[in-house]
Amino acid sequence: MFQYEQVYMTRESRAVALQVLKGGFGKSTIANALSDALARRNNRTLLLDLDPEGHLSTGLGFYNRSTDGLDFRDVLLGESDPSELIEETGYGFDIVPAQNLEAVNKDLSRDEVIRSDEQLKTQFVDPLLEDEYDYIIMDLAGSRNKLTNNALVASRNVIIPLAPAAEALNGIRQTTSKLIGPLREYMNVEILAVVPNDLQQRLDQETTDRELLESMNTSERFAAYLEAGHGADIDAGTLPEGMNTQEVLDAHIPSFARVKEEVWEAIDNGERKPPTIPLRHRAAFTRAYRDRCPISVYDPDCDQLQYFDDLAQIVENGGLQQ
Ligand SMILES: Nc1ncnc2c1ncn2[C@@H]1O[C@H](COP(=O)(O)OP(=O)(O)OP(=O)(O)O)[C@@H](O)[C@H]1O
Ligand SMILES: [Mg+2]
Repeated sequence: MFQYEQVYMTRESRAVALQVLKGGFGKSTIANALSDALARRNNRTLLLDLDPEGHLSTGLGFYNRSTDGLDFRDVLLGESDPSELIEETGYGFDIVPAQNLEAVNKDLSRDEVIRSDEQLKTQFVDPLLEDEYDYIIMDLAGSRNKLTNNALVASRNVIIPLAPAAEALNGIRQTTSKLIGPLREYMNVEILAVVPNDLQQRLDQETTDRELLESMNTSERFAAYLEAGHGADIDAGTLPEGMNTQEVLDAHIPSFARVKEEVWEAIDNGERKPPTIPLRHRAAFTRAYRDRCPISVYDPDCDQLQYFDDLAQIVENGGLQQ
């Protein structure tokens, strides 16, 4: 009992946003599987779909309806209770499906009352977090809209997925320099993890998988992106004095994706076989989406599930355990 209490007390409830200013890198896929993993670890978990496209909601069987009824705007205005928007997924976690978010975004730009970036925090997250939910996971659009800043202010914790594509590094650069860095002047915004996704190429050749993984595991420029707003020079790609590239990367790249300098050298010298780094490309992700269920339900034996459990632990701990 004593032990249980100790474990319980070190955990804080937390809201986390999946964010990167680039579409298709896996925000919704990870938001879905991470919420499922948190719920399987006995956490009261709420998934909030803030992308007007509503793909996340669709993938769990909730359709992007335009209704005359209650929507997010009523809650942001403080006119109705957030719990009225919540639905059960049937998979152990709850969801607020995307609903009328185009209209909400329009209203956020013109309505004096709800223009504030604090509205999602005060009207939605504060009343629910801790009392009703241990974790609130937010899925966002891949481009900036009025809900973006609201979500970052309300969560203050970000997970950034990156897929091996030419625009990956520019995606994280834009995200940290335009969104996270400026907010850090006013509040603490943590990047809990950067997660590579949809990997499938060799690492002992010049592939886009290698380019992404080597950059996020070795480069000072990448570390500087993570420390936007903390004194890093984004244009020069340098950290402030006293900050160490490896330490910054250790604090942000999950151990399943951490491949240090000496390992790259050993791969290139032929001294070791290139490792297989998650998250891998798996057809099961799109099939689970088609079947409107989390991947753990579609394929309970999927070899990628353990990494979502790792991510869930990172969320529980508020970052990587050093
Ligand atoms: N590891 C993976 N293996 C196979 N397919 C994947 C993987 N991750 C994502 N996908 C697929 O890639 C597509 C894009 O993923 P997802 O919708 O999660 O990205 P997103 O960042 O939410 O995009 P958007 O910004 O458009 O909302 C989806 O069809 C998804 O099923
Ligand atoms: Mg999405």
